[in-house]
Amino acid sequence: MGNAAIKEGQQLVGDHISKRNFEKLARFIYDYSGIKMPPTKLTMLEGRLRRRLRATNISSFDSYCDFLFDGGGLEQEVVHLIDAVTTNKTDFFREAKHFEYLQTVALPDLVKRGSRRLRAWSSACSTGAEPYTLAMVLADFVADRSDVDYSILATDLSTDVLQVAKRGIYADDVVAPVPTDLRRRYVMTASQPGRREVRITPRLRSKIGFGRMNLMDKTYSVGDPMHIIFCRNVLIYFDKPTQADVLGRLCDCLAPGGYMFIGHSESISGFDLPLKQVSNTVFQRY
Ligand SMILES: C[S@@+](CC[C@H](N)C(=O)[O-])C[C@H]1O[C@@H](n2cnc3c(N)ncnc32)[C@H](O)[C@@H]1O
Repeated sequence: MGNAAIKEGQQLVGDHISKRNFEKLARFIYDYSGIKMPPTKLTMLEGRLRRRLRATNISSFDSYCDFLFDGGGLEQEVVHLIDAVTTNKTDFFREAKHFEYLQTVALPDLVKRGSRRLRAWSSACSTGAEPYTLAMVLADFVADRSDVDYSILATDLSTDVLQVAKRGIYADDVVAPVPTDLRRRYVMTASQPGRREVRITPRLRSKIGFGRMNLMDKTYSVGDPMHIIFCRNVLIYFDKPTQADVLGRLCDCLAPGGYMFIGHSESISGFDLPLKQVSNTVFQRY
């Protein structure tokens, strides 16, 4: 990286992304991930990319962009660049009404319709709170139904969050939203006193397959049709045509009678999709 290299610890104070380079970055990020990068996100992008400059030992945003777009660095850097720009906020039992609906309406309905191998997909799973919450609800549901089983696919574009998700280790306050009885069954506390960490039980972890998947892919290879798809709090980062395309492809993976959950601040209105609304931000495929 020649004269663009910086000494360890050197601060990048006062450096900014030029308008031209912001446009290049924004275009690339949008094309690759669907994530909108309007000019109002400039400061946020600078903040997110500072650690990439440090990690690559590059002294300025302009040199970083030259490295990416003219110096052949994009291929090796793309995963990290995308990791840096994704927003990964999540929680156990986030938007708890969805899990209540799942437990009381959707799962009994799916079983009544004859499904015995329930397949659920958390399609933007972040650090794992969503698929582990799903697993807790499903594990409890099948516990006294010996003829019913479940499996979960959990995917995300960011490799950083997938690493956290696969380990299933969290600070103990992160699992605070998990009801006590479920915590007792599905969350282990650290054996050393004073370590404020918990881990999801191996049995629950074994029910989830984690993998990197980009919702911008033209087809999703997820195997047999899903009975439940969670696509929550990711559509908001996409523009309307992209939202419609993603939801259309997700519907292709959803079994007739299967359920689609989107985030409480998201909507499918105006899209031509084979879905009927059955509850607030919950839809059923016809
Ligand atoms: C705000 S989190 C939502 C996590 C979880 N679904 C929830 O509601 O708590 C959004 C997630 O979407 C992921 N994401 C963003 N663009 C994506 C894409 N094109 N394909 C797959 N995942 C994407 C991000 O990496 C991030 O982990």
